[in-house]
Amino acid sequence: MFRRIALVAVLASLSPSALALDGNPVAGKSIFQRICQNCHSAEIGVNKVGPSLWNIVGRQPAAVPDYAYSESMKKNNAPWTATALDAYIADPRGDVHGVKMYFKGLADAKERADVVAYLSTLR
Ligand code: HEC
Repeated sequence: MFRRIALVAVLASLSPSALALDGNPVAGKSIFQRICQNCHSAEIGVNKVGPSLWNIVGRQPAAVPDYAYSESMKKNNAPWTATALDAYIADPRGDVHGVKMYFKGLADAKERADVVAYLSTLR
């Protein structure tokens, strides 16, 4: 009970900029189409090599029901906040150890912020 209240307090204290990372969703869409879309669809229910990223921001990891996630991703309990997505996209295999996303990551922080801003529009 107390832990739940503490969590709500932490979530409420996150500033809007910490949630959105101030990215540009239009630029993020073209980065998504160039890089992520090889393996991910933005549409609900469409899985490719990777799971659909529809409604990804704020949801639990490994939540697409008909997608075969790695054991590491299933054990990852941290919700996909903008900050968590930023860290994962920067270095997927370093962030969630043993993850099956064979992607070296996006090194540019601005590009990551733009992609996360675009992902926030998928709902
Ligand atoms: C080479 C293919 C590939 C590329 C490119 C790729 N991904 Fe992935 N992605 C995957 C796979 C496979 C998984 C499943 C990982 C697992 O189960 O360990 C995944 C998982 C994810 C997840 C977790 C999904 C969930 O339901 O918990 C997110 C978020 C994600 N990718 C974002 C991105 C973004 C954003 C990009 C572009 C910057 C990207 N990925 C590029 C293959 C890819």
